[in-house]
Amino acid sequence: MLTKELEQKLMHTAIEYRKRSYSPYSGFQVGAALLSADGQIFGGCNIENAAFGPTNCAERTALFKAVSEGVKDFIAIAIVGGKAEGELEFCSPCGVCRQALVEFCDPKTFVVYLGTSEEDYKGYLLEELLPYSFTPKNVL
Ligand code: THU
Repeated sequence: MLTKELEQKLMHTAIEYRKRSYSPYSGFQVGAALLSADGQIFGGCNIENAAFGPTNCAERTALFKAVSEGVKDFIAIAIVGGKAEGELEFCSPCGVCRQALVEFCDPKTFVVYLGTSEEDYKGYLLEELLPYSFTPKNVL
């Protein structure tokens, strides 16, 4: 269980990183903030591409930044999204991002915070968002 202060810091960081979204095609801007077990916060935004397929979601940007820095243990992620000129909307992670997260995060303890502000958010266990997941345990 995170402190309210840390939860709000994660939401704040996700909101800040959303400002870096490169999303000229969809106009939908997403920000994420991933908390590692050693207390670091990795921010990410969605990065689109003219060929569409190479587009990377905010959650995976944050995750891949962390893993590429040698960090692989995580506690929680905050995610915010919404249209470029509009209000923040409840933005649930796509299936690919859920699967990418479960590669590194324990679905029974890892928390996904979804919300629209530093005050308005709710935490979900990864297990709730991705039940019966296929994980490294199935393969290794
Ligand atoms: N997007 C994310 O960044 N995260 C999600 O979980 C859902 C979708 C991005 C991808 C694309 O740039 C835009 O939102 C519209 O789908």
